Order: sequence, then C-alpha cells, then structure tokens
Amino acid sequence: MSSELLTKARAYEAQHGDAIPAAERPAYHLTPYIGWMNDPNGFSLYKGKYHLFYQYFPYKTIWGPMHWGHAVSTDLLHWDYLPAALAPDAEYDKNGCFSGSAVEMNDGRQLLLYTGVRCEKQKDGGLRDVQTQCVAAGDGLDYEKYPCNPVLNEADLPAGFSRIDFRDPKLWMEPDGSYSAVAVSRTGDGSGAVLLFHSADGFDWHFVTVLDRCNNEYGKMWECPDFFELDGKQVLMLSVQEMQARGEMHGGFNALYLVGSYDPATHTFIREDVQMVDCGIDFYASQTLLSADGRRIMTAWMQTWADTEDKPKDCKLFGQTICPRELRLKDGKLIQTPIRELDALHGERVLHENVTIQQETALAGIGGRVADLTVWIQPGQEPYHSFTLKLAADETYCTTLTYTPYSSQLTLDRSRAGSRADIVHTRSCTVRRQDGALKLRILLDRNSVEVFVNDGEQTMTAWIYTPQSADGITFAADGTVQVTAVQYALNL
Ligand code: FRU
Repeated sequence: MSSELLTKARAYEAQHGDAIPAAERPAYHLTPYIGWMNDPNGFSLYKGKYHLFYQYFPYKTIWGPMHWGHAVSTDLLHWDYLPAALAPDAEYDKNGCFSGSAVEMNDGRQLLLYTGVRCEKQKDGGLRDVQTQCVAAGDGLDYEKYPCNPVLNEADLPAGFSRIDFRDPKLWMEPDGSYSAVAVSRTGDGSGAVLLFHSADGFDWHFVTVLDRCNNEYGKMWECPDFFELDGKQVLMLSVQEMQARGEMHGGFNALYLVGSYDPATHTFIREDVQMVDCGIDFYASQTLLSADGRRIMTAWMQTWADTEDKPKDCKLFGQTICPRELRLKDGKLIQTPIRELDALHGERVLHENVTIQQETALAGIGGRVADLTVWIQPGQEPYHSFTLKLAADETYCTTLTYTPYSSQLTLDRSRAGSRADIVHTRSCTVRRQDGALKLRILLDRNSVEVFVNDGEQTMTAWIYTPQSADGITFAADGTVQVTAVQYALNL
C-alpha cells in the first residue's frame, strides 16, 4: 500500500534518479538509487531473483528518516533498481524503518522483518527513540505493513534488556516452514546481546533465548547480527560499536564473527573463537544469504559510521555495498572470495609472468579503475624488505598496498587517495608467513578497492574517492621481487 510518504519517495526517485549517469556510479557495486545508503537489508532470494534492500534516505546524502531502497539482480553484480519499498509512515516506525531482512514465504509472498523506530516521551519528560520489530509482506515490489505491528516489543524482551536498543532482525526459514530470527538488544551492563526469536507463521513472534552476549568484551552495543551454519560450524556475525582494539582487531566500529557450535534442540550456541571479518577500513553491517546452489554469500556496507562525513562535495549518491563474497570456513577461519559470477564477466586477459621488479614499474595493460587483478609476489635474487603496489595512481594520488615479508605485514594506505579529512586512512594485518610469497586479488571499482589475500584468508576493503583520471598501477621493491600479474577486463 502506498502511503503519502512512500508515494513522495517514489516520485522523488522517478524525478531524480535517472539524472545520475552510469559513469558516476561504481560499475558492479550497488549504490543507492539516489541520496544516502547505509546497511544492506533483506538480502535474499525471491522468485529466482536476488533482492537487496538498503537503509535509504533518498532526499539527501546524509542519514535521515530511514526508508528501504530496493534493487534486484540475477548475478549480484548487475542491479536493477525498484521503487523504494518502505517509508517511515506508520505510528510505530515514524522515526525510521531500520535494518532488517527478508525471506520468501511458502504462500509466494515476500516477508520483510524490520525495526520500527518511534520517539516516545519518557517519564522524566525527555524523548527517546524506542525500537520494536515489525513485518511487511509483499510481491517483490509493493509491501503491506502488518496491521498488528509491532510483532515484537519490550514485552518480549527478558528482564534488563533495553527497548531503546532492540533492532536489526535477521530471519530465515526453518526446514519445517517456520521462521527464526536473531536480533540485538542492550543488556543491563551497557553492552549488546543476540536474542533468538521464533514464529510459526512469520507474523506471530516470540522470544526463545539469548544466544550470546558481549559482556563489555567486544565493543559495547552490537548491531546487525546474522547466524548461520558454515562448513559444519555455526557462525554468529556482528557489527560492533565502540570496540576497544584487541590484538589485530581495530577499535571503533568493527565487524566480527564468532565461530562455535549450535544445538538446535536446546538453542545453545557455544562460542569458540572471535575474529574480525575484514582487516581494511570500510566494512560494516554485513548480511548473508544462502544461494540456490548452497553458497553462503555475504554483502556489507562499504563504509563505517566513523568516516561518513568525508565525501565528495555535491555528490548525489553516498554509500555502496561490497562486491558480494562467498564464505567458507577453513580451520575455524573465514575464507572470503568474490562471488564466482564475477569470473563469468571476465573479458580480455593481460598476463605478465615472472617479471623481476625493483624500481617502480608499470606493466603494459595493467591499470584502470574498474579491474579484477591478481598479483603473485615471490622473492627474487636480492632479499627484499618491502614491496609496494600503487593503485589508482598518478603524480598526485595513490592508494598503496605494502608488504613487508619479515614482519608479514600487509598495509593498505589511502592517505593520498584524495581525502581532506583526518580520519583512518591506513590499516595493516598480519598475513600468513610463506617465505616472502604472497597472492593478492584486487577488485577495483571506480571509488573502491577490495583486497583478497592468499585466496581469501584475509580481506581489506576501503573506499577511495580519488579522481578517476588517477588510474595507474605500479610495482616496486627495495630488493628484487618476481611478480606475476593477471588482469581481466570486466564485461559489465
Ligand atoms: C547499523 C545501524 C543499525 C540500524 C541502522 C539505522 O549501521 O545502526 O543498527 O538498524 O544502522 O540506519
């Protein structure tokens, strides 16, 4: 049903979205149709197509009253925009339709479960946003909010949990056709927890258990949970606020995955390990789906809240998702690789085999800002301490990947990518020691770089708002390095 607010958003899209030339968008990463995007929502399959909704404020490139934007795809790389799906037009969500998820129901409808935010007067006279969970069902284009919303509110929370922070339901269908969902809330100690809920029909929901809690150990509030089986283990994926750096895990906003075991009979999750999902700068609010051929595929917001102010002046779009990644678990660690659909777009191949690199060198045909490049680095005759790959480079700009084999550090540095802001521009991670050898697959897409280290053992993701004219790629080492580089043009 189209409310006034939804009609207005759709009319605004119809009027303005087409004004953005394709060349001003990334070529294979999803951006909002117009305006602002944060978290991907409702990442799911419906009637044979992938649907991706997103936290959306069409009118400006800043966060505002949250709508849900909507796009569909058959390969997760080419997206067709559909009109905005939800607007904050009901009493219980008039301060925002926050993040949530989607699933195909057995009766053919698509079910959306999302957080409704409304501002409520408190006993002390102050105003606070209160969060509840709401559903809407539709046909893949138009959605009807359920008349009995909200379907989960403070009465469903265990004692001591916060109704002010109660959000981001991720739902899935159980083998018996019923539904489960995880959502987050804040506990009495001020930090987050993940709660499990169940529904026989998708509309009538009840609390089941607390699956895990932060106990102020990994950040404060947790957001955007996802819970799925992967290669025989159970994974609880989270985005965390106010993380205190620990080991290699950086502080601030971070995305973590908890690996453990799960007993569905008792709904008990036993956490065995906690790791960071992405070692780069811009990765938050991930969400996964299970493809028809059984792949666990993840998307995420290629951004964190810490650096949203740094955007090109007068941009008409802000925010993008990562290139979807296939997930596997190997020796308890997440392996992430670009979805194989990207390989199907491979066009002309440029190959340089076993080139000796010392001084800064460009290799013919390796460059550009839309690329799928793989680089193998092997030690050469002269020992080397540092190898640097410059991307999106010209005389003024560059984003670098530097590998120091003796400390096994890989550093991503976008401080010369064109930003004028004093924000995080550099991150490092320890990669597997392999006697100076390293494999990097690098996806470039106009204003982003995603690095997959050693076939996905680690990833480093960052946006780079570098002028498109800076399109050079060079290689340099302070000893000698043998480089093999393969770059595929992408038929987009
Ligand atoms: C995460 C988040 C979610 C919330 C949404 C609001 O980025 O804060 O917890 O639902 O963004 O836009």
